[in-house]
Amino acid sequence: MGFCFFGGSVFFIYDGFLRYFRGGNCYNNKQHKQRGIKMYKIEKMNIKDYEKIIDMWKNTDGVGLSGDDDSRKSIKKFLKKNHNTCFVVKYKNKEIIGTIMAGNDGRRGHIYHLMVKPDHRKNGIGKKLLEKAEKSLQKEGIRKIFLVVFKENDIGNIFWEEAGYKIREDLNYRDKKIMD
Ligand SMILES: CC(C)(COP(=O)(O)OP(=O)(O)OC[C@H]1O[C@@H](n2cnc3c(N)ncnc32)[C@H](O)[C@@H]1OP(=O)(O)O)[C@@H](O)C(=O)NCCC(=O)NCCS
Repeated sequence: MGFCFFGGSVFFIYDGFLRYFRGGNCYNNKQHKQRGIKMYKIEKMNIKDYEKIIDMWKNTDGVGLSGDDDSRKSIKKFLKKNHNTCFVVKYKNKEIIGTIMAGNDGRRGHIYHLMVKPDHRKNGIGKKLLEKAEKSLQKEGIRKIFLVVFKENDIGNIFWEEAGYKIREDLNYRDKKIMD
């Protein structure tokens, strides 16, 4: 895939269309010309969309859900604390087709539930969502991000590796449940 930078935009050909990114959004040139609409738009995640989002997560291999932590109440609490760092991607201003939840504890950033619906993958959307989340964490003064990904998630692991997230061979991941 060839890329070309011009006037703050990145142009590339995918699926036979000239597309370009500008200001966090991905445009399909043909549709953009025809109807003047943005194909993909990144917006802050809103709890009002919880039902649509949880439904997508439940139907996406690679997204690890944890009952109580992903309940409406818990996600609402997470969004309240991290309202500037969690995003969705909307397709044609309507359908939510991707998510990322980033948060921080004042020291480290953490990322959960990065996903893109299968029909929209390999379009650079995951990368754009991640860039948006990273920039938003930077604005909050965060220097380092950690995340977990299932070992058997080959594509997920390629994605994170390509994005510069290294496996820490010198550490063991540990956790303990402190509330039922
Ligand atoms: C991982 C995921 C979010 C990637 O989203 P995406 O929009 O398809 O990713 P992008 O198009 O931005 O790809 C970025 C890079 O990731 C890698 N990548 C993505 N999909 C890939 C695939 N199917 N095969 C090989 N590499 C792939 C490539 O290096 C790609 O860069 P390139 O297009 O320049 O080759 C998506 O596959 C997904 O939703 N998977 C299910 C949920 C999941 O596993 N989430 C991550 C675990 S926490």
